[in-house]
Amino acid sequence: MCGIVGYTGVQGAAPILLEGLQKLEYRGYDSAGIAVMEDSRILVSKVTGRIVNLCEKTQNGAAVPGSTGIGHTRWATHGAPTEKNAHPHLSNDGRFAVVHNGIIENYRALREELISKGYVFESETDTEVIVHLMEMYYHGDVKEALIRTSNRLHGSYALGVICSEEPGKIYAVRESSPLILGVGVQENYFASDVTALVNHTRNVIYLEDGEFAEISGDQVSVYDCLGQPIPKKIARIAWDVQAAEKGGYEHFMLKEIMEQPGAVKATITPRIRDGRVFFEELKLSDDELRQITRIVITACGSAYYAGCSGKYVLEQLARIPVEVELASELRYSNPLIDDHTLLIAISQSGETADTIAAIKECKKRGARTLAIVNVVGSTIAQLADYAVYTWAGPEIAVATTKGFTTQLSVLYLLAVLFADRLGYLVGRSAEMIAALQQIPMYIQQAIDMNHRIPRLANKYHKNHSLFFIGRNTDYAIALEGALKMKEISYLHAEAYAAGELKHGTIALIEDHQPVIAVCCNPAVMEKTMNNIIEVKARGAEVLALTFRNNQKIVSAADDFLFIPDVNPVFAAVIEIIPLQLLAYYTAKENKCDIDKPRNLAKSVTVE
Ligand code: F6R
Repeated sequence: MCGIVGYTGVQGAAPILLEGLQKLEYRGYDSAGIAVMEDSRILVSKVTGRIVNLCEKTQNGAAVPGSTGIGHTRWATHGAPTEKNAHPHLSNDGRFAVVHNGIIENYRALREELISKGYVFESETDTEVIVHLMEMYYHGDVKEALIRTSNRLHGSYALGVICSEEPGKIYAVRESSPLILGVGVQENYFASDVTALVNHTRNVIYLEDGEFAEISGDQVSVYDCLGQPIPKKIARIAWDVQAAEKGGYEHFMLKEIMEQPGAVKATITPRIRDGRVFFEELKLSDDELRQITRIVITACGSAYYAGCSGKYVLEQLARIPVEVELASELRYSNPLIDDHTLLIAISQSGETADTIAAIKECKKRGARTLAIVNVVGSTIAQLADYAVYTWAGPEIAVATTKGFTTQLSVLYLLAVLFADRLGYLVGRSAEMIAALQQIPMYIQQAIDMNHRIPRLANKYHKNHSLFFIGRNTDYAIALEGALKMKEISYLHAEAYAAGELKHGTIALIEDHQPVIAVCCNPAVMEKTMNNIIEVKARGAEVLALTFRNNQKIVSAADDFLFIPDVNPVFAAVIEIIPLQLLAYYTAKENKCDIDKPRNLAKSVTVE
């Protein structure tokens, strides 16, 4: 996701900011900018594209003199990746410059309020409300303006602020978004993570949510949200730079697995307003929705499996028939698509060649097209009639994790939205909304409760072949679990609909053959239980994934992975978490190149 840095001290700020931004490049970004203060003049420089463009534009910082400044790498969320939308943003009176990492959920209301008061907006970003609020609340005291501004913001934010009235000072605020302070000698810093700092100092202060810092060259003061000073300890960082880029995790994949509670929250929370699902980007009237007789979901790989899983929820809640087609098949299938079809294309990168071709084919035949995409402004986002973003932040590991769970979360949101608007949610709306809002919490619990997974990986990693079984939503998750396993651990892993075992596959079950049974869907639990008994009778070793406290399954299986007791409608997005972790630790046992598995690329832009 975006990265921010700040510096104040005795050296030129710009080169230090540029270097810090370069260190944050791994987080992903599509534009960047810095604001540097000399005496009481703020100079801003921004570019789209890479940091090297910013280095060129500023002559490696020489063109923006001054020893106090803030910088930003932006991963586009609100508004396209343009120079105007790049940070830092300036207040109308030119006094304040702000950089922001996170999402301001109530920015629309704030924007309207500020426009009605005469503030002029230069960008489409949510961030710009912050700098105008600062101007509005500033009456000679930056700290007070910062407290009043922060009190108006809902969402997640790490902010960096400079004010031309206070040369030599930078301010930083943290709320649900990473931010640390770096403590040097006659110079101090803030940054989204230690990567940007370790070349300069290993002494850091960790800010807590709701705290803010007033930083000058020789002093760092931290305050609570009421402005009361808080004593803070200085910690010493032992990591090397490479470890720091991964936030201390050994691999990006593990980091991204751990990021899922936050990523899914960023997907879901802004789409729930006044107890209902709302997609700003989906301008589909009730009449138009009623004319949709069929949904076709298309995608590749994990995104396709997100579609397979979402199909059940869409059909169950919104009662619209859903077909899921691999994009590489759909494009050549002379598909029966008409103007009553809604095509939902799913893609993390937004650049997958087959998915692009499938959208074009279906558009030609009159389908309305909706894209669920992570990368803002990508080809697929632009091609579709409606682009719904997942807001997962950049995904660096080749094997998708948070991409998948945020895609599935969007499908859940669409299912609830369509069901509500078609009148199928009467009396159940509050329950569904509450269940959606709890998903991030349950994902966290699923991460926390499966600490035995490394031991299980140690037990199973030597097998040449693993079977995954499940039914309905559990089958869709078995498919994704098997894909994760094979692509990163290089074990042969196949998923079967459990009811299909007897039609052939059971011939392969022999002594000690591991079978991973996904068994969380109450509607088919008894049936899957029978399949567990069948494979066990033939010598299989069963690792069951089920709800905590499901004694029946626990007594039938050999080993267990657990999920918390969630609403079964949305359980699939939780079920995949232990399977991601199992694949990760198995790959680790097999000493595989987890973030860059052999033969695979992050974005498949050719057929
Ligand atoms: C598997 C994986 C791939 C992608 C697939 C589609 O872990 O990452 O199977 O899901 O290549 O990519 P996107 O979503 O970018 O279209």
